[in-house]
Amino acid sequence: MAVSRGITLKSNRELAIMREAGRVNALALAAAKAAIQPGATTADADAAAAETIKKLGAKPAFLGYGTPPYPAVICISVNEELVHGIPGKRRIREGDLVSVDCGSVVDGYVGDSAFSVAVGEPDDLTRRLLETTEAALDAVIAEMVPGKKTGDLAAAMQRVVEAAGFHLVRNYTSHGVGRAMHEEPQVPNYMKPGTGAVLRPGMTIALEPMVIAGTPDTRVLADQWTVVSADGSRTAHFEHSVAVTDAEPLILTLP
Ligand code: MF3
Ligand code: CO
Repeated sequence: MAVSRGITLKSNRELAIMREAGRVNALALAAAKAAIQPGATTADADAAAAETIKKLGAKPAFLGYGTPPYPAVICISVNEELVHGIPGKRRIREGDLVSVDCGSVVDGYVGDSAFSVAVGEPDDLTRRLLETTEAALDAVIAEMVPGKKTGDLAAAMQRVVEAAGFHLVRNYTSHGVGRAMHEEPQVPNYMKPGTGAVLRPGMTIALEPMVIAGTPDTRVLADQWTVVSADGSRTAHFEHSVAVTDAEPLILTLP
C-alpha cells in the first residue's frame, strides 16, 4: 500500500471495494431515513440500517467502536444533539431535526457517511441550517482535486457556513478513511487555505461539516457519546467519503 506523509493512497482495486462499502452504507442510511417518521423510535431507524447492512453481507463499522464501546449501528442525533447520539426509546416528533451517521465495512474497508433531515415541514432556521450544511459538503467535495491542500478543504466549508451566519464545530474533524474508520489526515474545520497536506490521487477522506445554528461550543452528555450544542441550538451534519483521483472527485458513498 502506497503512503504519502502518513496518508495511505488507495489503488483502483481498493477504491472499487470502498465504493461497494460506500454503496452499502448509502442504502443503510436510506433505510434509516425511511424509518424516521413521527411516532417511530430512534431504535427503529437503527434496526432498519442494521438489517440492510446484514442483508448486503457487510459489517457495521460503529458497533463496538471506541471507549466505551459504541452500542449501536448508527448514530442518531436529534435537534441540539450534533453527533454520536445513541439510538433508543426516544420517539421522533413532527418538527424534529434528525441527523444519522453510519459506517459499513466491506472486505476490510470502511464507508462513512451521514445526513440530516427535517421531520415534517421545517421552520425557516432549520431549512437554512440544512441547506447551508449540505452546501458546505458540496463545496468541500469540489476541492478534492490533486494539488489542493487540507487547509483548502477547511476554508471551503468555512466560507459557506460563515456566509450564512452559522458556525462549524471546532472539536470534531473530517478525517482520512480506509481500512480504519479514522486515518490520516485529520481535517480541522479551522485551517488557512494553502496550508496542510497536499492532496494526491488515491487519498480518501470522510468530509463531514458539522454546523451549529448558535455558538460553536459543544458538550458531551453523561452517556459519554452524545455531543450536543452547548447553547442548546439546532445542529446539522452531512458527510460523504470521497476519493481524490486524476480527474473529478469520486464520491464513494453513493447508492
Ligand atoms: N462517523 C463518525 C466519524 O466520522 C464516527 C462515529 S463514532 C462511532 O467520526 F463510535 F459511532 F463509531
Ligand atoms: Co466520519
